[in-house]
Parts: sequence; structure tokens; C-alpha cells
Amino acid sequence: EDMTEAGTPPVIGVIGGSGVYDIDGLQNARWESVSSPFGAPSDDLLMGELDGQKMVFLPRHGRGHRIPPSEVNFRANIDALKRVGVTEILSMSACGSLKEELPPGTFVIADQFIDRTFAREKSFFGTGLVAHVALGHPVCARLGDALENAAKDLAIPAVRGGTYLTMEGPQFSTQAESNLYRSWGCDVIGMTNMPEAKLAREAEICYATVAMVTDYDCWHPDHDHVTVESIIKMLTSNAEKGRSLVRRVTAQLQGRDRACPCGCHTALENALITAPEA
Ligand code: ADE
Repeated sequence: EDMTEAGTPPVIGVIGGSGVYDIDGLQNARWESVSSPFGAPSDDLLMGELDGQKMVFLPRHGRGHRIPPSEVNFRANIDALKRVGVTEILSMSACGSLKEELPPGTFVIADQFIDRTFAREKSFFGTGLVAHVALGHPVCARLGDALENAAKDLAIPAVRGGTYLTMEGPQFSTQAESNLYRSWGCDVIGMTNMPEAKLAREAEICYATVAMVTDYDCWHPDHDHVTVESIIKMLTSNAEKGRSLVRRVTAQLQGRDRACPCGCHTALENALITAPEA
């Protein structure tokens, strides 16, 4: 039974953010070193199976949280996942809330991004091989559906859709910045989903993200401004729910048609300007 457009079996990649350092229930688990011409990935890749589904896990900040957001080699991470055959990426990350109705503990299945990062390598392409991929819909709706259903099954408070603003950091925002992002209609703020989502698209890998709210950033009149301590307080319970979500969503995706509307499988078809062998 061929479940893909390309004829290869699906491999689900999970990128774990702060607090998420493995996959719950992973069988035949082994850490493997994968090298990339783009440099060192954040860590070895944890490979295994979940109820027959091939899984690959990568801790975004490395085991023990050694790598700050600006130092994450996003190109090496996405390239390493591509090299071991990953066809879809579920990204998990901690974030701040920019909306009253998204309290800490809420999972936002974001579907849009605003990229305010400025000190990161953001493309696999450049001089010699010019490409411009479409990014109007940066998130795969099929993966989003699966995440939404899985969250519902587990009674995790989740919101489908939302704009995730990615800031450079490492400092948190000023109140003026936080209010600016609110005025732009952003829902959550974090430091890691860009350029990750852009690079996944360039690599023709479906991408969806779960932004797990830990705090109200610094705009809310009735809540203390975000601190690392406040984040860590929420992190453990969010991470626990996040790990069960991954297990559940994998069951949701198994045996399903992989045809999807995000266009990621063919992202490069109309994106390359320079022919590779020109
Ligand atoms: N990660 C978790 N909370 C955050 C916040 N308020 N701003 C940026 N990144 C975050």
C-alpha cells in the first residue's frame, strides 16, 4: 500500500523544544550521529518506532539544553532529518502568549509565522543555486488536523490556527515590542520556529508546530512579566502533555493518505531559478 506521492513510507520527525527530550513509548530506540555539510545538528538523532511507525527525534537545544536559540544550526537540523528520510516534521516549542484567551497551558497549533529573527542562516540556497519557495501556507493542514484531533482525544486545551512571532532573543521582549506584536494580531511569541519552518519547506518536508504557552510575556497588566523561572514552572506539565500528544498524533497519522494541501512535496518544482547543473 503506497501512502505517499513519492512512493516512500512516511517517517515522522519530531523536533523537541525546551522540556521535551525524547519520544514517549519509542521502541528500538537508539541515538545516531548524523553529519551534515551545513555543520553540526543540535544533537544525535533518536531513531525508533512507535507502534510500527518510523520516528526520528531531535532535541532542538541539545540534550541538557546547551544551545541558545540564536546558535541552533537550523540548516544542519533540517538537513540531518531529511538525510534519514523524514517526510513530516512535528515541531514542539515553549512560547509566550500575546492574547488573554491563550493562558499558560494552552497548546496553539500555529498556522502562520512572522519572522523577526536577524542573526540566523535562513536558506539552503544562495549564490550558484537561487531558489524562492512559496510560503503563503507554511504549515501542513493535514498535520494540523491530526494534531487538533489528537489534542481533542487527550482533552488538552488546544487552539487551531494562530500566528507565531519568532524573535531573535535571547532577551525577552520590551513591553513596547510585546504590544506592537499584539497590534499585529500575533497570538504567541517564541524564539525558534523560524527559520525552521522556512527550511522545512525548502527541504520539501511537511511541517506543523505546537506552541505550548508558558507565560503571558510582559504585556498583561494582571500577570508578572515573563521570567525563566515562570517558564520552567509550566514547562514540565506542558512537556508531559506534549509527549502524549506526539504518541496520539502518530496513531492519528498512521495509514492515512499523505496527499496534503501544503504543497511542500513539490515546493521546489517552481522555485528554482538556477538549474543545479547550469
Ligand atoms: N518562550 C517562552 N516564553 C517566551 C516569551 N515570552 N518570549 C519569547 N520566547 C518565549
